[in-house]
Amino acid sequence: MYKAYVFDAYGTVFDVHSVMEKIHQFYPEKGEAISQKWRSNQIHYFLVRQLIQDYRPFTDITRWALLDALSTSGVEVKEEVVSELMEEYQHLSPYEEVASMSEKHPDKTFTIFSNGTTSMLEPLLENNQLSDTFQLLSADDVQVYKPHPEAYAYAQEKLGLKKEEILFFSSNPWDITGATSYGFHTAWVNRKEQKWPELGIEPTYIIDNLTNIPQ
Ligand code: LAC
Repeated sequence: MYKAYVFDAYGTVFDVHSVMEKIHQFYPEKGEAISQKWRSNQIHYFLVRQLIQDYRPFTDITRWALLDALSTSGVEVKEEVVSELMEEYQHLSPYEEVASMSEKHPDKTFTIFSNGTTSMLEPLLENNQLSDTFQLLSADDVQVYKPHPEAYAYAQEKLGLKKEEILFFSSNPWDITGATSYGFHTAWVNRKEQKWPELGIEPTYIIDNLTNIPQ
């Protein structure tokens, strides 16, 4: 039995592509393309900022990623649309099994550890009635993005546990690779039956979703 169950937020607890419907309202037929570009830009941009060791908060990263997703999709970029889509990021849908997690596991404490800022994540939890389900840790507190080891070291320090007492969940291979390399036990949430990438590091567990979490 682990002493802490820690979850990545975007893509793991929350479906980042649930924003697609809102995008369709402004740009019919372009929702999927823009949403996919938005997420891949977002990941690319924070990885670059981390590598050059010049931190900018996830709010900026997410906004810049959206601006480029819109402009490279050949649509007119209107400020009011950008603001509405950024606001929508605080209303992403949790995956369906998340709502029953605390009821199913009354003996466990769940923590979200995300590259998102607290200002992004607190409303997101609140809007989905999940503030009592998850404690919250943000990489913004140390201004070091996952998958850098110092980010996981921060989470471990806040949890006050040994590495092997922590089980870390993410749907993102870059995140599972970082957390495994750091020394956490890890569960890759492989919702789309993808192949684990050849990175020379393997997750501790591979699960389909968060319905049955390893003990
Ligand atoms: C998170 C995203 C970046 O850290 O996966 O929640």
